[in-house]
Amino acid sequence: MAPGTVTPAGDEPYPTYFHLLVDVHRLLRPRTYLEVGVNEGHSLALVGPATRIVGVDPEPKGDGLDHPDWTVVPETSEAFFGRSDVPELLGGPLDLAFVDGLHLFEVALADVLAVERLAHPGTVVLVHDVLPIDAETSSRERSTAVWSGDVWKTVVLLRRHRPDLAVTTLDVGPTGMAVITGFAAGTAVPWGPDAAWVDTAVAELLSADHGDLLAMGLEDALGVVPGTPTELSRLLPGGPVTGPA
Ligand SMILES: C[S@@+](CC[C@H](N)C(=O)[O-])C[C@H]1O[C@@H](n2cnc3c(N)ncnc32)[C@H](O)[C@@H]1O
Repeated sequence: MAPGTVTPAGDEPYPTYFHLLVDVHRLLRPRTYLEVGVNEGHSLALVGPATRIVGVDPEPKGDGLDHPDWTVVPETSEAFFGRSDVPELLGGPLDLAFVDGLHLFEVALADVLAVERLAHPGTVVLVHDVLPIDAETSSRERSTAVWSGDVWKTVVLLRRHRPDLAVTTLDVGPTGMAVITGFAAGTAVPWGPDAAWVDTAVAELLSADHGDLLAMGLEDALGVVPGTPTELSRLLPGGPVTGPA
């Protein structure tokens, strides 16, 4: 199958974000992959053998990974991004990142902006849990098994304050996946986690809840598109691929 080709017969929505991730890896063939929030390694297990993996999680679980080139750093993302050896750990330009750590929007936003320092124009950043189901599962305090927290606010703020980026939400189960592209070459110092706009932006939405998102107009605020192979291929660098290989 040629790189950049969407495989499924038909264009059914991906059943879960794991199915989506499989296709992202297949289409992008990243040299390097950074995952914030590893847990038991289920999403790490979807990474192809030619990709170098760096994972970050203060409490990783499981017995390791059946992959030729992986490292999991047992730290919070904040500590990890403060390290000076992240570029060496990656061993090359960052092609793909998946933000799936602490489910509070100010942390997810800081993760995206820290990842941006490592990004190049072809980098793709995925953010999980951005399409909330209801008020209970999207509250800032966890009280349910499925918990997206208020990560959706990360998408709203990036779409409001970073028009230079393309930030879109794929409607994929259980709680959506944002795809972010359009990074500039080199570091993006004015946009880093310490940039002046960030504190103000976080304050804008700190007390907002699911009802406020509905009042904003969820589809527009989050840039929701169907979670299908066609929509994914439109969002990835290189644009849509319409035909079979
Ligand atoms: C939802 S799980 C990740 C699931 C995994 N990506 C998957 O799809 O299989 C979230 C993980 O984030 C980790 N986490 C919590 N706080 C974090 C932080 N500050 N930095 C990085 N990871 C964090 C938790 O320990 C947990 O394992």
